[in-house]
Amino acid sequence: MKIPFSLFAAASAILLPVSAEAVDYVGEVLPLMKKHCWNCHSNEKEVKGSLALEPETLSDQIGKYNIIRPGDPETSGFVERLKLDPGHNDFMPRKAGPLAKREIEKIENWIRAGAVIDKANPTEEEAKFLAEAKSAPAADGGAFLLWRNREGRTLEARMHSLSKDSVKLVRKDGKSFDVPLGSLDDESAAQAKRLAGE
Ligand code: HEC
Repeated sequence: MKIPFSLFAAASAILLPVSAEAVDYVGEVLPLMKKHCWNCHSNEKEVKGSLALEPETLSDQIGKYNIIRPGDPETSGFVERLKLDPGHNDFMPRKAGPLAKREIEKIENWIRAGAVIDKANPTEEEAKFLAEAKSAPAADGGAFLLWRNREGRTLEARMHSLSKDSVKLVRKDGKSFDVPLGSLDDESAAQAKRLAGE
């Protein structure tokens, strides 16, 4: 029996159903904050730089002119600090190593999706973001295309998004895969860039 997708499956560390796209702080980001930031940024321990990361206090930091800008991780100072050289004065977490790439991506995805604190209990503003995210068309209008990796194996999927060096593909059964661009053959890598408008 042929197992045509095994390599793609191996290439992706996470398998998320598409419905998990609606990320929120409480579910996805808070655990990371507790792991990396809590000693210095919580009412429970210490509040450095006036930043307390409890869900109840974090909303003060979220807004168009704040360090967390809903929909716009690229200009959010919060994310910027995580991506600095660890030797930089503003680098976070202070006195520790950088977060894993996946962890930073999770935070970026959260901000991109509106920086919603608790999707079970959204504010009016957050509800708007959640509704927009739900109705947004896929990057390619939902078409399922054939993707081929360097081993010649194929996967039928639609592209969800393209990040710097990986493409998120969603199979018909709703399973999504983060596939490194470098593992795709040239034609499929070009297809991803074309769909993303690059
Ligand atoms: C060892 C202590 C320590 C840890 C751990 C730490 N920070 Fe900080 N952080 C500070 C200090 C001190 C400041 C204030 C000085 C400054 O702004 O650089 C600060 C400031 C900040 C600011 C700026 C706040 C503002 O209002 O401009 C952000 C954002 C931040 N930290 C994010 C984080 C995040 C996210 C983590 C976890 C990934 C983290 N920090 C972990 C000590 C820490």
